[in-house]
Amino acid sequence: MMASSNLTFAAHATILLCLLGASQSAPTDCERLVRPLHQVHLHHLEGGWAFIAGSINNSRIMEALKQRGSIAAYFSNSSETHLSYTQVNRITGQCQQRSYNISFQGSTFSLEGNHRFQLNGSFLFTSCPDCAVMRWVVNSARRQTVDLYLLSRRRTLEPEVMEEFKAQVNCLQLPPPAVMDPSEELCPEPQEHQEPTAVLRDGNNIRKKHV
Ligand SMILES: *[C@@H]1O[C@H](CO)[C@@H](O)[C@H](O)[C@H]1NC(C)=O
Ligand SMILES: *[C@@H]1O[C@H](CO)[C@@H](O)[C@H](O)[C@H]1NC(C)=O
Ligand SMILES: *[C@@H]1O[C@H](CO)[C@@H](O)[C@H](O)[C@H]1NC(C)=O
Ligand SMILES: *[C@@H]1O[C@H](CO)[C@@H](O)[C@H](O)[C@H]1NC(C)=O
Repeated sequence: MMASSNLTFAAHATILLCLLGASQSAPTDCERLVRPLHQVHLHHLEGGWAFIAGSINNSRIMEALKQRGSIAAYFSNSSETHLSYTQVNRITGQCQQRSYNISFQGSTFSLEGNHRFQLNGSFLFTSCPDCAVMRWVVNSARRQTVDLYLLSRRRTLEPEVMEEFKAQVNCLQLPPPAVMDPSEELCPEPQEHQEPTAVLRDGNNIRKKHV
């Protein structure tokens, strides 16, 4: 009895190790890697994030991503179902911001209102506790794309996390991801009243700027 359950345990452990060890995407591995989260805790998203890497199924938009020095994302005003999302791209030293309201239905979200483009998104599995993996389906006059982004509270991540993200990109059959330069400054969160904003120069982590 004891021996047989030990054997069963050993068999399971071996299967698990095989799955973890497989860097290429066996179907079961991909299922796990690109599974949308059941539930997103919106309060967990609040605050600032750095885009670490991204992949888009469109080479023109992918090139545009590579031209960006850094991308910061700020989620705020969490309710049960709504958040405001501000993305600030640093492009040739300039900070360009866009803000959207997003509404959540479980772990999927969409842009509210009448924008130039439609976006449906979801958050996928990640083993990194201070990261988020976001999948977008974008539809606009300029692009119909699937995007996958790795965000983190930190600027640099362990190689294992990068490998896991690359595997997720592979599973979705997207091109190899662009990795953002962690030494490029992040643009600060725009202030409500739009005073001229100073640039955060220090630190590896994103801080909220209080003026
Ligand atoms: C966010 O919440 C604060 C405090 O409740 C409020 O003053 C502010 O207007 C809200 N911002 C938006 C964009 O709803
Ligand atoms: C988001 O929603 C709030 C309140 O519903 C509104 O005041 C604000 O203008 C919206 N922001 C954007 C960027 O659409
Ligand atoms: C987002 O989802 C809605 C509802 O399922 C759908 O009507 C819309 O076409 C989707 N938009 C995109 C860009 O996939
Ligand atoms: C990217 O994916 C979208 C959605 O599946 C598709 O409509 C579009 O044609 C794809 N783009 C390319 C360049 O394959």
